[in-house]
Amino acid sequence: MRGGVVWPCLLVMVVVVMVGVSAAPSNMFEDFEDGPTEFANYTLVKEAETYEVRVYEPSTWACVEMLDVKNNAKGKAKKHLKQKLGLLLGLMDYVTGNNSMDVELGMTAPMTSVGEEVGDGVMKGKICYYLPSEHQLNPPLPRNENIFIERRPQLKVAARTFGGWRMDMAKWEEQKEALKADLQEAGEDVVGFNIFYGAIYNPPTQMEDRRNEVWYEMA
Ligand SMILES: *[C@@H]1O[C@H](CO)[C@@H](O)[C@H](O)[C@H]1NC(C)=O
Ligand SMILES: *[C@@H]1O[C@H](CO)[C@@H](O)[C@H](O)[C@H]1NC(C)=O
Repeated sequence: MRGGVVWPCLLVMVVVVMVGVSAAPSNMFEDFEDGPTEFANYTLVKEAETYEVRVYEPSTWACVEMLDVKNNAKGKAKKHLKQKLGLLLGLMDYVTGNNSMDVELGMTAPMTSVGEEVGDGVMKGKICYYLPSEHQLNPPLPRNENIFIERRPQLKVAARTFGGWRMDMAKWEEQKEALKADLQEAGEDVVGFNIFYGAIYNPPTQMEDRRNEVWYEMA
């Protein structure tokens, strides 16, 4: 299933974009350098050898949505990339203060991406930012029309954690396949392997001791 390879690349891109922008004079990511100040809360319900099963409480996120098309013609791929970078930068702009409350939200974790194959080679997905607890109930509204606030219901996932910085798509794919194999072998009750989550926890400037995860939703 080659389509699955396309999606994680968005996560790689988040990191690449952030690195690129952090070198820019705006110092947009200054706030992020010390790492996340808050984490999405969850309850650990099972600790297997290679994965954990967790239940995340209902929570509020700020997201951008994008389509990704595999086997793009060269010019088209470039255009798509530009669009995606624009969306991610818009989200960062919201986090760093361009919102209805003019408030700097700071870095939280994990930054998640959710990808789903919606047609022949087309992936539909979202990249979402976890809102700090003081803004969970009344989030600042985005000025950018591409950003939307999402209330997620309780979510049960199996999570596989791994390290690595600026990994390519193949590395994400490898981890995802390993998790899938382990869950199948253990006979876990997974909602479906067509929907896949990727999570990153560290600022782009941190090269060591990074934490990344792949998740599948559990029934
Ligand atoms: C997450 O847990 C911490 C510590 O238990 C708590 O202070 C915080 O309010 C929780 N956040 C949310 C959004 O429930
Ligand atoms: C805030 O975001 C809006 C929508 O993306 C944009 O038009 C505006 O220029 C931004 N404001 C600043 C100060 O960057």
